[in-house]
Amino acid sequence: MKKEEFIKIRAWFLSYTRTFQGSDQLVNAHLGLKDRHAGRVAREMVELAADLNFSESDTILARAIGLLHDVGRYEQFKQYRTFNDAKSVDHSKLGVKVLDENRMLETLNPAEANIIRQSILFHGLLEIPENLNGRAAVFAKMVRDTDKVDIFRVVIERWREYKADPKNFKLQLDFPDLPGYSNQVIDELLNGRRINYQIMRTLNDSKLAQLGWVYDINFAATLKRMQQRKLFEQMAATLPQDETIEKVLRHLQSYMNNRLKNNENL
Ligand SMILES: [Fe+2]
Repeated sequence: MKKEEFIKIRAWFLSYTRTFQGSDQLVNAHLGLKDRHAGRVAREMVELAADLNFSESDTILARAIGLLHDVGRYEQFKQYRTFNDAKSVDHSKLGVKVLDENRMLETLNPAEANIIRQSILFHGLLEIPENLNGRAAVFAKMVRDTDKVDIFRVVIERWREYKADPKNFKLQLDFPDLPGYSNQVIDELLNGRRINYQIMRTLNDSKLAQLGWVYDINFAATLKRMQQRKLFEQMAATLPQDETIEKVLRHLQSYMNNRLKNNENL
């Protein structure tokens, strides 16, 4: 992708997302989070592209995908006032629709436009389709990794805000903040499986599921970055401390350490 093409996309993104800001504070707070998330994922994409020795043109493409990956969140929140896809709409599909309706991909090189579509379409699925390969698969895997890295950061930050002042916390919690967790979630993690949304019941379940994302990280470079920033440890520290949880944490940690030792996919 050419630099000028990225500049055009970014200008559109900024003006499009600004149209959602208004007098509704709930909408402003939630979509403001998405504005910052988009900018940070775009930066993470540039860093990952550097780790993977990408050309300048592919680095710009990666950056554009990072910026646009959640563009469907705006219309989703405006219409349904939730980011929960199961209760509203598939925000990944909606994102591609928004880009097409605004004719943002039309003038790009068709192969690159296709990579953007596929990466956005598959960024939020539990698993990437097996038949996706070639360049589209690489970019889709990258945005899945960088999105997760930033969500870790966001959830840790929101947790701190919520704990500091639960009454004035303005954002929605996805699950009730109850002391327990589900045994099914624990079993799945100990068996090396990612957690399906349907089996989560409490906030602890969703945090455990998030820790289980380490099974779904595509690039060792991403795990390395997570380790440098101590994202796993900070998230783990918000969980209740008992033997079962400690066992799961040790299991996930040793999985990460093994992958880093073998330097897979880097
Ligand atoms: Fe997303």
